[in-house]
Amino acid sequence: MLFEVTKYHQDLLNDFERLSTFFEAINEVHKNNNSKFNITYDLGCGSGILSYFASKVSKKVIAVDKDLNMIKKAECNLREYENVEIINKDILTCEFKDKADLIICETLDTALIDEEQALIINHILKYLNPNCTIIPNSIINLAEPISTNKPLNHIYYDDEINLNQENKLQYITLGKFINYNEINFHEKIDLNFKTKLNFKIDVDGILNCIKLSTYTKLAENIICGSTSMLNPPILIPIKKHRVKKGDEIVICLEYELGGGIESINVY
Ligand SMILES: C[S@@+](CC[C@H](N)C(=O)[O-])C[C@H]1O[C@@H](n2cnc3c(N)ncnc32)[C@H](O)[C@@H]1O
Repeated sequence: MLFEVTKYHQDLLNDFERLSTFFEAINEVHKNNNSKFNITYDLGCGSGILSYFASKVSKKVIAVDKDLNMIKKAECNLREYENVEIINKDILTCEFKDKADLIICETLDTALIDEEQALIINHILKYLNPNCTIIPNSIINLAEPISTNKPLNHIYYDDEINLNQENKLQYITLGKFINYNEINFHEKIDLNFKTKLNFKIDVDGILNCIKLSTYTKLAENIICGSTSMLNPPILIPIKKHRVKKGDEIVICLEYELGGGIESINVY
């Protein structure tokens, strides 16, 4: 099937790893459900690709996106699928008539900082039937102590660094990662996040950065790491410290989920 898309959504479709894990998860939860889902919501439907997958395993799919341009493309892409209803609205202002048996929500971003996933999940919790399945069902956030070969003057996404070849920004990890937070999408999410990261240093060097990575648990046995279009790791510059193997370093990290990368504070 050919999909009409914008450049951004074309990149999303080209990310085979992202797409195939969503496809696999939708089919896996359907297998466990034994029958078609009565009502499925695809929140942030974009081109409609996940609604297309869901239409095969659901009696009715309600696909919502706030971007009118994308909605026009989704309408065109899914015009032959009579069980898909497409709504052009901000999910956060939607009052849904029916409760859902399956929620698909891909408005993800690393640690949920820069996109509205956490706000959308909090809004949608009152529209779930008992035993409603949510894809993804949770995320796991990791932090690592990093040394970069040149000082960072702002927060970088890892994919920006790979693209920026002429600057040759490189980094190494100075110690083991910490699994600092897990977020379950079946529960209300606290939007104000604050923690202390206790890093154990394994390599002598200059600590000048921390790296945040997010793993997405789509279904019981399906976990996706970062891909080109799903949760690229973030590098956050910090005040530089000379560190030695065996040191223990404590760094405070705070941010607001959905608050944007400007809300990140490290000290
Ligand atoms: C990462 S794209 C995913 C698109 C599609 N689900 C896919 O997997 O290819 C996220 C989409 O969510 C939409 N979106 C983000 N926040 C939204 C909100 N509050 N209400 C409605 N749509 C939203 C964006 O317009 C964008 O099209």
